[in-house]
Amino acid sequence: MSQNILITGAAGYIGGSVLADFISRPNGPVKPSNINAVVRSEEQAQELSKLGVNVIQLELSNESAVMTAVVSNETNVVDSQVVSGLINGLGRRREMSGKEAYFIHSSVATLFSAEGGWPYGEIKDTDPVLEKEKSIARGHPVRDASILVSELSKALGVTSFIIPVPQVYGRGTGEWRKLSVAIPAAIKSSIKHKMVHKFDKDASPPSVHVSDLAAFYTLLTEKIVQREPVASGEDGYYFVYTHKTHWWDTMQRLAEALYARGLVTAPTVETWSSDEMAAEYLGFPRPFVRAMGTNSPQLVPVKASELGWQPKWDEERFLSSLDDEIQAVLESDPVMNTVSQTLVSGK
Ligand SMILES: NC(=O)c1ccc[n+]([C@@H]2O[C@H](COP(=O)([O-])OP(=O)(O)OC[C@H]3O[C@@H](n4cnc5c(N)ncnc54)[C@H](OP(=O)(O)O)[C@@H]3O)[C@@H](O)[C@H]2O)c1
Repeated sequence: MSQNILITGAAGYIGGSVLADFISRPNGPVKPSNINAVVRSEEQAQELSKLGVNVIQLELSNESAVMTAVVSNETNVVDSQVVSGLINGLGRRREMSGKEAYFIHSSVATLFSAEGGWPYGEIKDTDPVLEKEKSIARGHPVRDASILVSELSKALGVTSFIIPVPQVYGRGTGEWRKLSVAIPAAIKSSIKHKMVHKFDKDASPPSVHVSDLAAFYTLLTEKIVQREPVASGEDGYYFVYTHKTHWWDTMQRLAEALYARGLVTAPTVETWSSDEMAAEYLGFPRPFVRAMGTNSPQLVPVKASELGWQPKWDEERFLSSLDDEIQAVLESDPVMNTVSQTLVSGK
């Protein structure tokens, strides 16, 4: 029997790519007519309504509107940071219909690094991750949200899953936002300042191509709707990445690719003199910039491959694709493109 799913952030980079991945599998168990795509603006709603999915314009912090949407669309939920209305809605929906309700939550892999406040070093997704998260003092909004997901879902009989999202790269395939965060920010900053920069400390963030990540969300959802046994709740953490690449290596390859296009003045990388400078150049908030740029979580993924996830990207393919990352930034940003054309033509 078909089940409805609701995807939050469907105009975003990851949510849009997840939505596109579902639509690209017409013979899969999730049909476009079963998909509710949540967006925030009227413009986004118009763009996504061409896809044959049910588009819902919703502010996720409006808890009663969110609950109504979940209950009236008889849906399960994929992907969100604004959680309580969604889970309460799923709990109510389950109570009213007697049918199982499922929630897939996207967290952040940085939380499992020393820079993100994780004191335990290496962790497998088969370890008691929730227990360890709960032993850390509250106060980090993203970690607190993961704990809330597990506890509220359990209390309401909703089956939950948590995916700590690593560094994501590649062109998004959604209708709206096509760029990720970290690498596009480094590219924009490098073009603007005609030089690639790095932190004084190297990092090796777990990384995944957006198409591989989207394929994992689809795989997990398909298993759920087909009622296959999948670890959930306290055992429902999934670490999903394909390689850890040293940030300094990425920046060096980026410098070479930008220099070959005439967009920076040297094929080498300079060190930011302070975190303030890094925050200003990258456009990230100062309190988070160091954690974002220097985190090396020691995540050991076990469950995704057991579930049948077969990613197509690896470190070498990633490093070889940096010129396309530059091209994607230029295509998405007309101002940046003009700057680049001016630099290349030397005017
Ligand atoms: N990209 C990465 O490398 C990465 C890495 C780790 C974790 N993550 C996490 O993964 C999640 C998705 O990331 P992303 O890169 O896809 O971000 P994104 O492109 O900014 O997408 C987020 C989407 O969620 C929507 N949204 C945010 N708050 C909302 C609200 N209150 N009500 C309704 N819609 C709301 C945004 O709407 P608008 O379009 O209206 O702004 C946007 O379309 C985020 O939580 C992020 O922290 C991402």
